[in-house]
Amino acid sequence: MSKELEPLADPGLPEHVHRKADIDPIAAKRAERQVAVLFSLSSVGTLLFIYSFFFIKDDVFIFVPIMGNTNAHQLGIGMGMALSLLFIGFGAVHWAKTLMPDQEVIAYRHELKSAPEDRSEFVKTAKEGAEQAGLGRRPLIKRSLAAAVGLAGLPAVILLRDLGPLPGNSLNETNWKTGTKLVTDPGDRPIKASDLEVGGVAQVMPALLAGQKRTLEDIAKDAVLLIRLRPSEFQLDAERLSWTHEGIIAFSKICSHMGCAVALYEQTTKHLLCPCHQSTFDVTRAAKVIFGPSARPLPQLAITVDADGYLIAKQPFTEAVGPSFWERKS
Ligand code: FES
Repeated sequence: MSKELEPLADPGLPEHVHRKADIDPIAAKRAERQVAVLFSLSSVGTLLFIYSFFFIKDDVFIFVPIMGNTNAHQLGIGMGMALSLLFIGFGAVHWAKTLMPDQEVIAYRHELKSAPEDRSEFVKTAKEGAEQAGLGRRPLIKRSLAAAVGLAGLPAVILLRDLGPLPGNSLNETNWKTGTKLVTDPGDRPIKASDLEVGGVAQVMPALLAGQKRTLEDIAKDAVLLIRLRPSEFQLDAERLSWTHEGIIAFSKICSHMGCAVALYEQTTKHLLCPCHQSTFDVTRAAKVIFGPSARPLPQLAITVDADGYLIAKQPFTEAVGPSFWERKS
């Protein structure tokens, strides 16, 4: 008995089944309209993106079921871009499944580099494919696809606008000016030296002027920590000592490493600790860095009191608060 294995017979390809649009011109026309509608929905998505970007203010919130209060500007931009790309995809898939050529093709393996005649053959086949896809015969699809693809490229260009404007001097300045009252955060109450016990810590912000509103940007730059020590515990030079008041010293709360809130104070060691990457600052030595990746002390705010005994800023910060940035001088 022969031990040779019998090769499996090639089952061949199943019989080709024509799609409805291949044999019914009405179905083909209907499919063409469906593809055009999908591409047009993509264009609507892009227009929603453009409208949201330019005309919906970024502080407008709307209620959306399940999501709750949502920023309308960001929602419009996100939804617009998602719809724009999604419906181009839906349209292309529907087009391919209903109208593009539907025949099995066998591609034999060959060398990776194509021969010149193969390349010209490719160009010829591509042209034939475009012809068979009906781009010439189906102007509705052609136009709606051109509009959808053309518009879909716009968001990438429009988003470049968010790279500007240049920050100017805004990174060097805060709302702390000479004479600005320190107020509690939260609560916005003016604070006196007697409100803070030795060993105590308080977060303060600059008092708001009449009609002024505090923005998130303000909070990100202006937050200041007040810490009260015994005056004898300071190891400061004469100038920095004159920036304190009755043992109260004020530092920017924004970490000089990467801008986290320096939120932990160890009363026994008099160290301020940033929870993000553990930079540690010595309060007694003008927030000198004693551990961690930060390269600079926390900026100290010079403070004093006004005629009524309320704590005020003696002068603005003398250096930029927060992390390094390109234009920073120190
Ligand atoms: Fe504070 Fe990195 S942000 S240590």
